[in-house]
Amino acid sequence: MIAILGAGKMGEALLSGVLRAGRRPSELMATARREERAALLRERYGIEIVTNVEAARRASTLVLAVKPQDMGVLLEEIGPRIPAGTLVISMAAGITSAFIEEHLPENVPVVRVMSNTPVLVDEAMSVISAGSHAGEEHLKLAEELLTPVGKVLRIPESLQDAATALSGSGPAYFYYLVEAMVDAGILLGMPRAAALEMVIQSAVGAAVMLRDSGEHPVLLREAVTSPGGTTIAAIRELEKHGVRAAVLEAIEAARNRGRELAGG
Ligand SMILES: NC(=O)c1ccc[n+]([C@@H]2O[C@H](COP(=O)([O-])OP(=O)(O)OC[C@H]3O[C@@H](n4cnc5c(N)ncnc54)[C@H](OP(=O)(O)O)[C@@H]3O)[C@@H](O)[C@H]2O)c1
Repeated sequence: MIAILGAGKMGEALLSGVLRAGRRPSELMATARREERAALLRERYGIEIVTNVEAARRASTLVLAVKPQDMGVLLEEIGPRIPAGTLVISMAAGITSAFIEEHLPENVPVVRVMSNTPVLVDEAMSVISAGSHAGEEHLKLAEELLTPVGKVLRIPESLQDAATALSGSGPAYFYYLVEAMVDAGILLGMPRAAALEMVIQSAVGAAVMLRDSGEHPVLLREAVTSPGGTTIAAIRELEKHGVRAAVLEAIEAARNRGRELAGG
């Protein structure tokens, strides 16, 4: 039995992905803070909605999907009631496995996950790290749970803040670039809807080529950049305005902010 504790945006997306991947509603349960949220989840997915304590008692895998600031309260409530042998998977940004382990009985395995919002369309990037009592079988269970909603990669926990900055926030950078490109279309007199369609389809096409061709991004870009042509004129401006350096610094700032938040 898998229980999702705090089934909000991320938790619900995982829940629906796991059900679509073929698990039966009877294998899943979830918890919510508000009754109307509980009713909605019950009606939408036909799963049992229980209290956190009941979930902790009955489930063999607990997925903690509350916001980082709600994690302390949740762990104090359920920590002492988690039976040995339960796997605890945390989706909260910035919360270390050591912090979670402090609230749990001795030797309970913890796997820390950083996912991202494309979990909603089964295209998440989830990076997972083992806590100090989690072994191969626990990482495998976490991978099994997360694979239906996207890709899963194992990383050392020391790189989790970097992963949060890179792939956790990653979709936002692409949306920002799309916004800026649509503005450029408007500047050039393109109707907004047409500009948006062109940019989105270019993004989708580029993403699929990146994923499926196996080519390095530099080679894919060079294939669009003919000598003396239009693309190189644009690239010159991007270089002149330090866009590459801005990206490096932006993602480093996100990593540093993650560390700051984790430090309380
Ligand atoms: N959104 C993202 O882009 C993203 C990306 C990567 C990772 N994450 C991580 O995913 C986690 C969830 O984020 P989210 O965006 O899904 O947040 P969310 O939509 O607010 O979901 C959290 C849910 O937990 C419920 N909750 C809070 N305390 C509870 C408790 N003690 N018992 C039962 N339910 C409780 C909340 O209830 P209410 O509805 O009453 O508030 C809410 O429905 C976070 O830790 C975040 O760091 C999010």
